[in-house]
Amino acid sequence: MDSAKLTELYETAKSWVFEAGEVIKRSFSSELNITYKSHAADLVTDMDKGIEQFFIDKIKNKYPDHEILGEEGYGDKVKNLDGTVWIIDPIDGTTNFVHQQLNFAISVGVFHDGEEKLAFIYDVVRNELFHCKAGEGLYLNEEKLPRLEETTLDKSVIGLNATWITPNPKIDHQLLLPLVRKSRGTRSYGTAAIELAYVACGRLDAYVTLRLSPWDFAAGYILIKEAGGMISDVNGKAVNVLDKTSIFAAKPSLHQEILGLISPGTSTNGQ
Ligand code: IPD
Ligand code: CA
Ligand code: CA
Repeated sequence: MDSAKLTELYETAKSWVFEAGEVIKRSFSSELNITYKSHAADLVTDMDKGIEQFFIDKIKNKYPDHEILGEEGYGDKVKNLDGTVWIIDPIDGTTNFVHQQLNFAISVGVFHDGEEKLAFIYDVVRNELFHCKAGEGLYLNEEKLPRLEETTLDKSVIGLNATWITPNPKIDHQLLLPLVRKSRGTRSYGTAAIELAYVACGRLDAYVTLRLSPWDFAAGYILIKEAGGMISDVNGKAVNVLDKTSIFAAKPSLHQEILGLISPGTSTNGQ
């Protein structure tokens, strides 16, 4: 894709993200229709479905050859990253959306022939759009953000959900205890997209989670790489953005330091 086409796609996608944000804001004054997916904690609203359909209609109308992987399943059965592929979470943090009307985001990542190209994580209520066009730096709204600097665990604030420091089938939870004990503190926002955006902009120094789907992390993955951070699975292995996976994102040297604690004997392969 040539540079002019990519710029046009960037501006178009950004305008759709803002438009979708306005639809969500307007929904606050009307009653939400909430249903459960697999269990009582797995919520979905008409707004999740409506916003995904909004993007699909816009994309298919303007770019009929683009493919879309969306959480609510209205997009395509995407098997690889050939051509232009959008990975969309219409609302990341649905539980917060329902309970708080705060701490949720629209997450959109765009790849072309396997390369990360565009990312948007839009915290609708705070009016914060984290975005990038690969190679041109990370932006928060109109402001260009600096690349991430090195830090150490004792000076870090880590994004970590309490689920993972209690016995669970995904990891020996004892391995994560040093993150709690040795860092300045841990935080859990209930939205992987915002947590990844916060690592990309430096509000968090690292984020560890054991179970995400492509739509939860695709845009964040692009933002973190653009910011000069490291993103891998919890074993330090490169992530396939079309797979469910654990995710471990951090400032570069911190990534190595934490990996030595949570996955002893491995070396980083994050990018
Ligand atoms: C969820 C959020 C949450 C993460 C879950 C995701 P959703 O996404 O990102 O932070 O821990 O694994 O499923 O369901 O609100 O889009
Ligand atoms: Ca999500
Ligand atoms: Ca979602």
